[in-house]
Amino acid sequence: MSVDDRVLRTSRLELRPPAVEDAQALLDAYASDPRVTKYMDWFPVQRVSEIAERLAAFERGTADGKCIGWVIRRLDEAAPCGRIDLRLRGEEAEVGYVLAVSKWGQGIMTEALTAVLEFTRRHLSVRRVSGTCDPENRASARVFQKCGFKYIGYREGSLVRPNVSGEPRDSACFEIVLEAPPTRSPQG
Ligand SMILES: CC(C)(COP(=O)(O)OP(=O)(O)OC[C@H]1O[C@@H](n2cnc3c(N)ncnc32)[C@H](O)[C@@H]1OP(=O)(O)O)[C@@H](O)C(=O)NCCC(=O)NCCS
Repeated sequence: MSVDDRVLRTSRLELRPPAVEDAQALLDAYASDPRVTKYMDWFPVQRVSEIAERLAAFERGTADGKCIGWVIRRLDEAAPCGRIDLRLRGEEAEVGYVLAVSKWGQGIMTEALTAVLEFTRRHLSVRRVSGTCDPENRASARVFQKCGFKYIGYREGSLVRPNVSGEPRDSACFEIVLEAPPTRSPQG
């Protein structure tokens, strides 16, 4: 699959593969903002080189078939405002996402995740997508619900979210099973 095949468009957004050159824009948009990182498993990023290294590692992971991801940009703006990624494990994948505070509450991540699920259903062999969030992260839980994920339950002490506490915290777990795309008959 070429990079171009991975550019997704919705009514308000373009989602395209991330590149190391996006590092500064992503740092400016969200990665250094403690309001954004509150429930993440990483601290606010200080240096652009740190993001560049992560993006390079992500590119290698994509080349190895371990992950696939997108930078999110509003069509009416030049700079990216978020990211959405899938960690791939055979027929299963785990989704993660993050968005600049100035864009919260406008349905943007729901729109982006819906597009990624449709892409996954059509183009990947993944049939089950899971997602987790801190039990207090109501916005993230709501995005999963709005996109059709089922709430599966709590996983106790599953992840340290260092911006909240040094102790492992529970995770709320969500899951969606994707329908296989329709198969074409030999007659077309
Ligand atoms: C989680 C996140 C991606 C949501 O993005 P978004 O574009 O604002 O999400 P949407 O607008 O599509 O939907 C958010 C929903 O949560 C609701 N919501 C937001 N804050 C809430 C809160 N404190 N309590 C309850 N509901 C809340 C919104 O009202 C909306 O639901 P609605 O459409 O029924 O009104 C964004 O808040 C973010 O980047 N947070 C920081 C990073 C993060 O937590 N990532 C996920 C880690 S698991």
